[in-house]
Amino acid sequence: MKAIIAGTAIENIIERDFKEYDTKYGSAYAAIDGDYLYILRHGKGHAKAPHLINYRANAALLEEMDVSHVITTHAVGSITERLLPTCIGLVSDFIDFTYGRPLSFFDGVDRHLDHKEMSSVFDDELKFQVIRASVERNLRISPSIVYITTNGPRLESKAEIRAYRAWGADVVGMTLNPEANLIHELGIRLCSVCFSINWAAGLDEEGISFIEGESRKRLTKTVLDLSLDALGAI
Ligand code: HPA
Repeated sequence: MKAIIAGTAIENIIERDFKEYDTKYGSAYAAIDGDYLYILRHGKGHAKAPHLINYRANAALLEEMDVSHVITTHAVGSITERLLPTCIGLVSDFIDFTYGRPLSFFDGVDRHLDHKEMSSVFDDELKFQVIRASVERNLRISPSIVYITTNGPRLESKAEIRAYRAWGADVVGMTLNPEANLIHELGIRLCSVCFSINWAAGLDEEGISFIEGESRKRLTKTVLDLSLDALGAI
């Protein structure tokens, strides 16, 4: 089975019956369509703020459903010109700046203690397939984006964004970690696609404004279609 983990917008795009699945780590919301599992990251109706999401339950559901490949999608804010608002990118690396979230399956409690490497989290073949699909759809995609995950739910200050830029982050969001590291720990092939919906704090003279409404829906749907094209080629 293959999977997509996405934000709440897919609940309206994928017209399937999302239901609660019990895992060893708590519940996850998902729908099955043929060989595809769609997980609603935030639960039903955007119930959970980013710092309250049960990331381990979502990742454990992938494992329990025997998922081999997963694409996760993330709305982000732009920090550098490498990913402008309205544009789509592939995450190549991350800075995990979260706290108080479950960080690992291998903490010596439920499973043995282990120190998983995090230098090859994103799968080359899946990334290649997303790029191939974007060429076929005549879409531009940034192939190598560094994502910093903040804890949220508040947005960042201007000074924080200046610091993250100096650290090498291209985009900021609240959900890549620990989702990506947990999935990687389980040995499931992963690729993360991000799409920018705003300039991060302090980078737009007029203040923060988000792409919303129909344009946002179109962008979300494009990212979903691209992800399905890529998974379909695996
Ligand atoms: N900051 C954090 N998370 C986000 C942003 C942002 O500017 N935009 C979308 N998700």
